[in-house]
Amino acid sequence: MGTYTYAGTLATAQKVNWKIEDIIGGDKRLDFTKPFMPESLAGVRKLDFLSSEEQRTLNQIRGLGYLVMFGLVEEFILPFVLDHARPRLAEDCYRTRALIQFASEEAKHIQLFKRFREEFDARFGHRCEVIGPPEAVAAKVLTHSPLAVALLTLHIEWFVQQHYVESIEDDGELDPQFKSLLKHHWLEEAQHTKLDTLMVEEIAAAASPDEISRAVDEYLEIGAFIDAGMQQQAQFDLDSFERATGRRLNAEERERFIESQLKALRWTFLGSGITHPKFLTTVGKLGPGLRERLEAVAPAFC
Ligand SMILES: [Fe+2]
Ligand SMILES: [Fe+2]
Repeated sequence: MGTYTYAGTLATAQKVNWKIEDIIGGDKRLDFTKPFMPESLAGVRKLDFLSSEEQRTLNQIRGLGYLVMFGLVEEFILPFVLDHARPRLAEDCYRTRALIQFASEEAKHIQLFKRFREEFDARFGHRCEVIGPPEAVAAKVLTHSPLAVALLTLHIEWFVQQHYVESIEDDGELDPQFKSLLKHHWLEEAQHTKLDTLMVEEIAAAASPDEISRAVDEYLEIGAFIDAGMQQQAQFDLDSFERATGRRLNAEERERFIESQLKALRWTFLGSGITHPKFLTTVGKLGPGLRERLEAVAPAFC
């Protein structure tokens, strides 16, 4: 067993809890003269054939994509957490309340990301296509075993922590409004990492070594599905960039654009999760050789 408890996590979650109106609406608006994403996730500066304004436009397109990806994954996390809570509602009041709080926060995050997207779409001035729809992605992910989905969720919760602490918190150039969104999301997600660790431990405790091994393979299959989505998203981002800037890239520029943006997308949504030390520690406790299986494929996403 780990060191996390439902009672402790619930107490922290109740202290942290914020309202959507606290972070968007009224005079709380995006500033399109500033970048939205840290360079370590956006990866726009190495595209040296783009002007600084064009790099900023691409950075903002990537900001929209970041929010939309969370909207997408939280569509499957929400029903997954509720399904996990439901069979044992009467057993442990703290467990029930902590998991319902978790689900409620994800429902709020989905709504928050929709609000930001409305603001973005209204003021960016150009159509930006994104992968989806969220319901179809959620349905596909939820066809996998609960342990595989719990592992993917844990991967996501941990990379949110990594992105904020290592890349966003100390970046003084970012739009304060966008940064505020990322900060508030990070604050609540910190509890989700603990709850999801408890969920992984609970599901694994009732599974055989073969079932656990298959779940790790399924987690990698979902990763491959997300990777295919990243390849599509890089192409969408190129189209959005050309629409927004009116610039047509030549064949070599397009190739460099796709290559470097796909690398950045892979690191953001796959590499930074699969290599997260806390995620790997949890996987390592599930059985011999499992952590090593993930470490063998991780370089493809880093
Ligand atoms: Fe969230
Ligand atoms: Fe979360």
